[in-house]
Amino acid sequence: MSDKLIIFDTTLRDGEQSPGASMTRDEKVRIAKALERLKVDIIEAGFPAASPGDFEAVQAVARAVKETTVCGLARALDKDIDRAGEALKDAHSSRIHTFIATSPLHMEHKLKMTPDQVVENAVRAVKRARQYTDNVEFSPEDAGRSEEDFLCRVLEAVINAGARTLNIPDTVGYAMPEQFGRLIARLRERIPNSDLAIFSVHCHNDLGLAVANSLAAVVNGARQVECTINGLGERAGNAALEEVVMAVRTRKDFFPCHTDIDAREIVPCSKLVSSITGFPVQPNKSIVGANAFAHESGIHQDGVIKHRETYEIMSAEEVGWTANRMVLGKHSGRNAFRARMAELGAEFASEEELNTVFSRFKQLADRKHEIFDEDLQSLLNETDAEASEEYVKLVALDFSSGMGERPQARVTIKTGHQEHQADFSASGGVVDASLKAIESLLNTEAKLTLYSVNNITSGTDAQGEVTVRLEKGGRIVNGQGADTDIVIASAKAYINAVNKLQASNQRKHPQVDEVDV
Ligand code: KIV
Ligand code: ZN
Repeated sequence: MSDKLIIFDTTLRDGEQSPGASMTRDEKVRIAKALERLKVDIIEAGFPAASPGDFEAVQAVARAVKETTVCGLARALDKDIDRAGEALKDAHSSRIHTFIATSPLHMEHKLKMTPDQVVENAVRAVKRARQYTDNVEFSPEDAGRSEEDFLCRVLEAVINAGARTLNIPDTVGYAMPEQFGRLIARLRERIPNSDLAIFSVHCHNDLGLAVANSLAAVVNGARQVECTINGLGERAGNAALEEVVMAVRTRKDFFPCHTDIDAREIVPCSKLVSSITGFPVQPNKSIVGANAFAHESGIHQDGVIKHRETYEIMSAEEVGWTANRMVLGKHSGRNAFRARMAELGAEFASEEELNTVFSRFKQLADRKHEIFDEDLQSLLNETDAEASEEYVKLVALDFSSGMGERPQARVTIKTGHQEHQADFSASGGVVDASLKAIESLLNTEAKLTLYSVNNITSGTDAQGEVTVRLEKGGRIVNGQGADTDIVIASAKAYINAVNKLQASNQRKHPQVDEVDV
């Protein structure tokens, strides 16, 4: 029997640190349920000390998840650890992940601490975390650029203090696979009590090596990999879960371990994360890109038709690329709708909430013949967005255009109980006129830095999913909107982004210095 490789998913924590990828509490719960269906071992749900909203999101995930261990991140500070312990109180199984930087650069310039102080703080943090749970993980941040002797010293001390997972992060994506693999092997060899802990890795993708570094570590004895769906994460992202999992699964001959992941849930989970965060998946992305299993050249097609393995090392079905399933239609009733939504992880707090989403489904089914899972997910995205105390609501949008005519838009929005209306005519087109009409009412002065449209499913009656990125005062948010009409989808996306800008409060970033760190 091969060893188990623990899959620790940090989409909801490090993934959320991608500029623009912030998620609401309900969105996080929906992704957490999808991760549970995927059978990840640990879900890092967030950094509870970041803000009251982050605390509530971790708490909601801890309550919603039934089988998977839920983890909260905490700096090596008593107040962070207490917040994490409190947020995870109701989890059926919890872990606290505490960290402190150990590289000379970070200790001197960020922490302004001596190595002795770092060891002391690390040990204190682990002991405090153990008061809440036996399952404590410790990370020496920027381990990839830390001195090996010092890493051995800190890690030995935290094992003695009760840490049972030692996570070695390549925080800035600087490591090379061979070197990083060797580091893991040497730490395991040199730390006298290393057999009491599981070695984990957490690699960033700044040089495109996050997955390669993670796998090199696995070959050298790491038995936990920290990763994210679609490789989402700070800067260039983290190791992509789907790539790590499928490498280990496809090359059983090479890796002495296996995961418990249900690979058929990979693509649905990837689509969900992409539609909630507004981060599209590039078509040629391994495993989850639209072209990952498509063959263009005649020679390849011929080979695959004769014998699939000539050009395919995995099957599309294995990772969940089944043909779009028409799940519901115009004549489907409430019970069928509720049942399918439950399978997608949606729970309705009341009959009233179910009725609201059901009536939206009926409206969509009037316009669109076939309703797919992706359409249902987008209905849920819209409902979640509205539930999160919307500041602005789109009430109505009329527009006209034609060859040789100047596009016009009339928009009505609601802020609080007041309605406002504006007309705008713009040379750019009806989308341009509609967004400018909204902006003329709201005066956000935010900069539009991205506008993209994707069709959710295929066919000319498919819903268009629009992503709008707004930037203001250093804050970046992505807004999403879907509709069979892309002008309406664009207006919804713009308003969703404006609402997120309003809501994005002063969240703390776990890895940015704070006066009392
Ligand atoms: O990249 C990193 O070092 C992290 C730590 C908090 C583990 O995300
Ligand atoms: Zn990270």
